[in-house]
Amino acid sequence: MSVSGTLTACRRLIIRDDPHAASKYITDYIIERIKAFNPTPERPFVLGLPTGSSPVLIYEHLVQRYKAGDISFRNVVTFNMDEYVGIPRDHPESYHSFMYKHFFSHTDVNPGNINILNGNAPDLEAECQNYEKKIQQAGGIELFLGGIGPDGHIAFNEPGSSLKSRTRVKTLAYDTILANSRFFGNNLDQVPRMALTVGVQTVLDAREVVIIITGAHKAMALQRCIEGGVNHMWTLSSLQLHPHPMIVVDEDATLELQVKTVKYFKSIERVGEELGFRQKLPRKRDSLVDESTLASPVSHAQASNTVKLTVPPFDLSPSASPVLEPMSARLSDQQEAKTLLPIQVLEDAPTTRMSARVTG
Ligand code: GLP
Repeated sequence: MSVSGTLTACRRLIIRDDPHAASKYITDYIIERIKAFNPTPERPFVLGLPTGSSPVLIYEHLVQRYKAGDISFRNVVTFNMDEYVGIPRDHPESYHSFMYKHFFSHTDVNPGNINILNGNAPDLEAECQNYEKKIQQAGGIELFLGGIGPDGHIAFNEPGSSLKSRTRVKTLAYDTILANSRFFGNNLDQVPRMALTVGVQTVLDAREVVIIITGAHKAMALQRCIEGGVNHMWTLSSLQLHPHPMIVVDEDATLELQVKTVKYFKSIERVGEELGFRQKLPRKRDSLVDESTLASPVSHAQASNTVKLTVPPFDLSPSASPVLEPMSARLSDQQEAKTLLPIQVLEDAPTTRMSARVTG
């Protein structure tokens, strides 16, 4: 299966000098997102999390920031991407062990809010179906952080996976077994042959997907996923179908990209900085506004006198790209909810058909 994709569909490619700088960028971004969301026990921030060597630095930074008192994870619910089948939960290479070692044990995440697939469940299929249900019940994943394998796989969605896949049992590809054997004393026979993994569609369902890619050995995968079309043999390329993806890479990972691709994505950030704008996610359409705060529908013209808008009116259509706003105008989600009009009101503003604009 291969669908044509375009470069512009991959909205944000952030390039940093090295893995440290790339990881710090993502750490700052996640913290900013959680704070802006202002999570409570009733309305927690739902965070998807990966394992692998790539996110280790991010976890280190997050733990440091937690210890410095900059962020709390008390009202964060986590869902991990995957887990091996058949190795004990307390095996040093299980993804359970990984997560506690690098993140959970060092922060205030509520153990009751941690979700990791159980690779030893008596009914693996039921375990997977239940996981999807739990994600749904939690309100969906707000931000899914991920890494990729050198073959461009996301979670354990190996080359050839369906782009519509959901959480399921997966047989690992030889390339992955080879790559992961470094964690098992370089003994291929010790690497589990199967895993439970969220599907490509599970990842795409997240409101936002943030991917870390570092190192020259991932350069080909990055090139295929950004400059190539959407292709089930490079499952990360499915991100081109997501409205709000962000891929953060180091310079080494860009080695196979065209110079013009690199220059273009660097220019997006630079121009934004020069003009004092930054990229920001559009608000969720279902949580835009507390409608009770608006007594009656207001016309667009009235609105501009009475309501503070943080985005230009022409940008309020359901847009696939992040909204640009002046940095000085950022409001918290709650403030925004009080000051913005329901999208419906804005969409109902009278429009002029193209044909009616032609005079003479
Ligand atoms: C495994 C995990 C992936 C991860 C990949 C890359 O396959 N299932 O989620 O992205 O490893 O790991 P690393 O960052 O060590 O290269």
